Amino acid sequence: MTLDYDKLKQLDHSYLWHPFTQMQDWMGEEPCIISKGEGHFIEDVNGRKYLDGVSSLWCNVHGHRKRAIDDAIRAQLDRISHSTFLGLSHVPGIQLAQKLIEVVPRGLKRVFYSDSGATAVEVAMKMAVQYWQLRGEGRRTLIASLAESYHGDTVGSMSMGYSETFHRYHKSLLFPVLRITPPHVFRYYQGMSEDQALGAAVEEAEAKLTENKNSVAALVMEPLMQGAAGMWAQPAGYLQALSLICRRHGILLVLDEVATGFSRTGKMFACNHAGVTPDILCLAKGITGGYLPLAATITSEEIFAAFLGEYSEFKAFFHGHTYTGNPLGCAAAIANLELFDRENVVENMQPRIAYLQNRLAEEFLPLPHVSDVRQWGFMVGIELVQDKAGRKSYPPQNRIGHKVIVEARKRGVMIRPLGDIIILMPPLSITRGELKLLLDVVSESIQAVTEN
Ligand SMILES: Cc1ncc(COP(=O)(O)O)c(C=O)c1O
Repeated sequence: MTLDYDKLKQLDHSYLWHPFTQMQDWMGEEPCIISKGEGHFIEDVNGRKYLDGVSSLWCNVHGHRKRAIDDAIRAQLDRISHSTFLGLSHVPGIQLAQKLIEVVPRGLKRVFYSDSGATAVEVAMKMAVQYWQLRGEGRRTLIASLAESYHGDTVGSMSMGYSETFHRYHKSLLFPVLRITPPHVFRYYQGMSEDQALGAAVEEAEAKLTENKNSVAALVMEPLMQGAAGMWAQPAGYLQALSLICRRHGILLVLDEVATGFSRTGKMFACNHAGVTPDILCLAKGITGGYLPLAATITSEEIFAAFLGEYSEFKAFFHGHTYTGNPLGCAAAIANLELFDRENVVENMQPRIAYLQNRLAEEFLPLPHVSDVRQWGFMVGIELVQDKAGRKSYPPQNRIGHKVIVEARKRGVMIRPLGDIIILMPPLSITRGELKLLLDVVSESIQAVTEN
């Protein structure tokens, strides 16, 4: 079947409303309409191929049309595509839970499924607040979180991860949160060394959490890398310090590893870099290899046990979604985890992480309009500014980040910026040659836009 681009464009422009997209711009542009994918490339209806430089929004792990995952989904299709998890169970849901518990940090024991990153974190928040009530500490209702963190776009997730740009129209709907400033040198601690910023940020967290120690239910954070803020990196010591403060005050530690999970940072989970086990771990995106919407909120047995009781006590966790634990998603996720083992993914990506790190330091950082490069594993943010010495940003109407991705697209690379921060987050299986192509094109595109 040939796909008529003009017809599809007309239908798209007539009927669709795209997320995080100014539709006025969109409807004045030629949309890129994807029809296929293979390996680390996606292809549009006109037959143009693009290297998938941000893993189809940070979720693809082993490439597109990965045989083992395709086969697992097909095999599951021949059994059943969906059956509820409310009051029933199913085979791939059970098998996946066992596999997840084998890979997450020791101490996490119970898997609660949902279907997106936002729901994984909402579930964690609701569990934490209910947990304290069930434990007889009903005063603990406050959630602490990091400034400019991003946990998704549902009301609870927006409250926890407030972003002025994204969420200001919905401020009236949001609940108050105790905000903690992360050790982000570029934004908050300018002029300090990384160590000084770490010290100052830990001091602030200690003071705020101690002052509110009887009312905080949980600290929710993206460990090591605040992705949607613009890839704000933290040293592993920050997570270690915050984990200790939480333990001291009995505050639950909730880690949102929706973006960092499944080895984006170079270890299976970001918390592995710090040797920290959270009380609750939130996973989504890469859990199915980037194939299907599935999420998991994984807790300790202690949290789970607090919800046990007689039926008539109504202590159960009354939360669920129709597609919670969808069997096709679970089958994809099992195949994803098996591939991590079979293809030795974490170990094999280490030389490519080093290559990425070297090129970023040697070629990108010296560019006259690159003010900062932040990296953990395969998560990269390249910050562009108008004036490097004065750290002066470009006016937003210049849309520098957008212009860079348009240049990259012309050269066959698909990336998506966050404002003027160029994000790179390739699939973990990207080859060395493809990684070189990604970096060559992004470097050329940055220079084409900023040096003319
Ligand atoms: C750290 C983090 N948490 C939560 C989310 C929300 O995930 P979803 O878009 O699947 O709701 C994202 C999405 O980018 C994320 O990066």
